[in-house]
Amino acid sequence: MQDHGINLENADCMTWLTSQKEESFQLIILDPPYNVGYKYNQYQDTKPQHQYLIEQFLVLSHCQRLLKPGGSVFYLNYPETAARIWAEVDFLDRFEWINWTPHAHVRGTPLRKASRAWLWFSKGKPLINQEAFQTEYRNPTDHRIKKRIEAGLKPASYDWIDLEPVKNTSKQKRKHPCQVPEEMVERFILGTSNPGDLVGDCFLGSGTTAICAVRHGRSFAGCEIDPLYVQVAETAIQAEINAKNLAQSLNEHDVKK
Ligand SMILES: C[S@@+](CC[C@H](N)C(=O)[O-])C[C@H]1O[C@@H](n2cnc3c(N)ncnc32)[C@H](O)[C@@H]1O
Repeated sequence: MQDHGINLENADCMTWLTSQKEESFQLIILDPPYNVGYKYNQYQDTKPQHQYLIEQFLVLSHCQRLLKPGGSVFYLNYPETAARIWAEVDFLDRFEWINWTPHAHVRGTPLRKASRAWLWFSKGKPLINQEAFQTEYRNPTDHRIKKRIEAGLKPASYDWIDLEPVKNTSKQKRKHPCQVPEEMVERFILGTSNPGDLVGDCFLGSGTTAICAVRHGRSFAGCEIDPLYVQVAETAIQAEINAKNLAQSLNEHDVKK
C-alpha cells in the first residue's frame, strides 16, 4: 500500500503523532472515541472525563504542529464535548462549527442524542474548494428552484450535514461499530485539499478516511490502536486500490481502441 502513498500503522495516536513530520499534512480528519462507554473490540471508552479532555487537547496540539499553513483539521464529537474543545483550542484558528444530525438514536434520556459536531479548525486561512461543499437542492421540483437549476446555479453551502449514519445494511458497512459515511469525509477531502496532498487520521477505525483519500488521489498517513480494525481497514483500502487500478486500465484500454 505504501506504493500507493498509503501509510497505516497499528499504533497509539500519541506515539504516531509524535513521529510525524512538522507541516507535512494538508488535512487531518479526527473521529475519536467519545468517552461514552461505547463498545469497541478492544478500546475501553470509559476514561475519567478530565483525562479524556487533556488527551483530546494534546492530539489537537500535535495536529497544529503537523499541519501545513492553509491546512485544516475536522474534529468530530458530541456537541457538549465539542463546545469545551472549541472554547479552549486557541492554538488553531476556529474556522467553522458544522452540525451533523445523523438520525441515529443511540442512547440518551429524556432526549436521545442524535446530533454531533464537526469542528473545522485551520492553520491560517484554509485552502477551500467551494464546489465540494455545495450539495443538491432539497426541493428540486419547486418552480423557483427549477429555474435556478436550469440556469446552472448551485445551492448555497450550509453549516449542517444531513447524512444518514452507516447502517448495518449499507454497502459501505465494515466490521466496526461506528463508521462515518464516506460522502461526508469525501466532502472534507475534496473541499480542503488538492490531489497529491497528504491527509491524516490517527483514529482510523475501519479505514474511511484512507479509502476516501485513495479514491480522490490524495496520499494518506494514519494509525489505529486495535489490530483487528487495522486489518479491516487494510482489506478495505486494498479493495479501493484494486477498483481504482481496474478502472484505470479499462480506461486506457478504451483509449487505445
Ligand atoms: C469513532 S472510531 C473511528 C471510526 C472511523 N471514523 C470509521 O469511519 O471507521 C474511533 C477509533 O479510534 C480507535 N482508538 C481509540 N483510542 C486510540 C488511540 N489512543 N490511538 C489510536 N486509535 C485509537 C478505536 O479503536 C476506534 O476504532
